[in-house]
Amino acid sequence: MSTTIPPWARALLLADRAVHSSVRLAALVRTEILLAGLSADAREAVNAAVFSAEDTYAPGGPTFAHGLFAWERAAFATAPFPSSGRVLLGGAGGGREFAGLSALGYEVTAFEPAPALAEALAAVASRHPGSHAVCASYADLVRAARGDGGPLAAIVGAPYDAVVLGWASLSHLTDPAARAALLAALPAIAPGAPVLLSYLGPDDDGRANGRVERIRSPLRRGLALALGSAAPAPGVGFQPGAGFYQRFSAGEIEALAAGAGYTAVLHEREPYPHAILAPRSRVTAAR
Ligand SMILES: C[S@@+](CC[C@H](N)C(=O)[O-])C[C@H]1O[C@@H](n2cnc3c(N)ncnc32)[C@H](O)[C@@H]1O
Repeated sequence: MSTTIPPWARALLLADRAVHSSVRLAALVRTEILLAGLSADAREAVNAAVFSAEDTYAPGGPTFAHGLFAWERAAFATAPFPSSGRVLLGGAGGGREFAGLSALGYEVTAFEPAPALAEALAAVASRHPGSHAVCASYADLVRAARGDGGPLAAIVGAPYDAVVLGWASLSHLTDPAARAALLAALPAIAPGAPVLLSYLGPDDDGRANGRVERIRSPLRRGLALALGSAAPAPGVGFQPGAGFYQRFSAGEIEALAAGAGYTAVLHEREPYPHAILAPRSRVTAAR
């Protein structure tokens, strides 16, 4: 005997599917309008506002409470990442990596652009003499490296043994020129120092193949045409709790590194995409 699905259950499941599709469609249209209508600077301002509201990254929040991830601990224990010394940490959030690195014995100079998180970061840093925290972005780091002042002017010139671009923070630079400028600034600020970075990898969870997703490309092209602007690059997106982001393939990260004179001496996709970059001259000399 086969059991039939009652008509009311069928209707409920159909209605549920329709609601889900409408919500995904609305989110897709919202993202594409925001991407088409906002400049790189405006996207950065939105990201700072989005992350300021994300208290998961501050003391008392679950992400902060998690402490260092296992892959971060493993990276910090992998040469050429030094076993001690001074670390420059960007995109530091509310101080999760700051607290972890300090507990491992590093002296940390950190910065974070979202004002509420920068405040939490400063409170964490105040418990570690010799460490510093500043409210600033990667654009401010590039500015300081060029000798153009700004909030990070006072921290360039110190010797750094390593650089950490905080968890996935590189992915929040959606402008390719800003990413290249950041990577180019690092050897000027921390010559010879390895760089640990992490990023959002390709969206390979299958959602990008859904029916709703099929309208993204034509909508993207249509909005660009209507506004006379360039269509956003593939892999750029927006999420209400994560702001604007760029997904990268491993090859894109390695090309970005190579463009600034770095080589990836470690590059893992799992459990979270991350790489340790070393200056190419240092890697060649070690051979
Ligand atoms: C996923 S959160 C991680 C926060 C912190 N590193 C942690 O792991 O708890 C990404 C961080 O990147 C920061 N970020 C976004 N855009 C940035 C930019 N242009 N310059 C520097 N940091 C940025 C965000 O404000 C946010 O704190």
